[in-house]
Amino acid sequence: MIKPHGSETLNPLYVADDAKRAQLENEAKDLPSVVVCSAAAANAVMLAGGYFNPLKGYMNLKDSLSVAEHMKTTDGLFWPVPVVNVLQDVSAIKDAKRIALRDPNVEGNPVLAIQDVEAIEEISDDQMKLMTEKIYRTTDMEHPGVKAFNSVGRFLVSGPIQVLNFSYFATDFPDTFRTAVQIREEMQKLGWEKVVAFQTRNPMHRAHEELCRMAKEAVNADGILIHMLLGKLKKGDIPADVRDACIRKMVEVYFPPNTVLVTGYGFDMLYAGPREAVLHAVFRQNCGCTHLIVGRDHAGVGSYYGAFDAQTIFKDEVPEGALKIKIFEADHTAYSKKLGKVIMMRDAPDHTKEDWVFLSGTKVREMLSRGENLPPEFSRPEVAAILMKHYQAQASK
Ligand code: ADX
Repeated sequence: MIKPHGSETLNPLYVADDAKRAQLENEAKDLPSVVVCSAAAANAVMLAGGYFNPLKGYMNLKDSLSVAEHMKTTDGLFWPVPVVNVLQDVSAIKDAKRIALRDPNVEGNPVLAIQDVEAIEEISDDQMKLMTEKIYRTTDMEHPGVKAFNSVGRFLVSGPIQVLNFSYFATDFPDTFRTAVQIREEMQKLGWEKVVAFQTRNPMHRAHEELCRMAKEAVNADGILIHMLLGKLKKGDIPADVRDACIRKMVEVYFPPNTVLVTGYGFDMLYAGPREAVLHAVFRQNCGCTHLIVGRDHAGVGSYYGAFDAQTIFKDEVPEGALKIKIFEADHTAYSKKLGKVIMMRDAPDHTKEDWVFLSGTKVREMLSRGENLPPEFSRPEVAAILMKHYQAQASK
């Protein structure tokens, strides 16, 4: 199986040994503690599951700046997005060497992890601006990722962590949430060597479904890892449980058994387009995938990124050999009325606009809110029915 990023074997930061974990939980009761922001909690969950291998904890200011600017840590490790614990108020942990990190997303704020504090540094306005610009390619506070990154505070708390649980992801999504370690184990059991990963934050429509099929065939893969984001999204995006139900139904009805793994990871959406695509590639390599599908407007939002910027970054900015995983570049994909099937637009140069079935996300939401069925060329009827139920339930609230 493909090796993880930056090391020979995975180094998950979840403390799997029960006795050791109980001891740490006990220790945490007497440690100074802070409730971290959702992004820092999600980073801890990713570190816990081996997704952010080979990192050992949260980055310091030098590394964060270096990663934002040059996509590598000061030690030279290739890494696309700073992995940080940023706080508004550090008075409770002043001078502490070891602290408990409390979960903002679980009732009662239980301890999520223990951190050895290496440094507490204040990020200046200029440094914040520089990082924002480099990661998001904009400093516009209307951008949901920029807003989230710039609203959590200025104190960067760095140092290694030991993680005690997987936050709400393991409890809310027991059938879907998987660590990178578990995904590698499941793929090993299935005997998969070549695996295509599909990143998604949406219910899968026909274009998504067909992209998976096309990519699997093109690279002659043993299987497909559908890997959905289970963390926080912007308003208007579809909740994870509804997406999960749609995807599971689609796979059950339209894919042969044992060719697809439906899984999810616990991370909040950054909407960082190209940089997030590179992060996606890093953690899919850590899951053991050999290929990642990157299509149109991957991890994008609004019109902040060009439709294929998330593909070009791999050619223009990711150094040769920095990653082992390969990118399957997908062109805009849609249903061709002429051919009666879903294809990539580059494969039908003779088509005009009228030959395609296009539906924007906004249009889909409007149709479902009005109780109108989605066309079968766009969405499988089984998927459309689940979405309709969700929208109608929303409307009656
Ligand atoms: S994302 O934010 O997780 O990237 P989404 O779930 O919509 O959003 O997309 C998942 C993947 O499918 C991304 O690689 C995206 O580029 C690709 N994709 C989605 N729709 C299309 C489409 N119509 N044509 C080509 N690629 C697409």
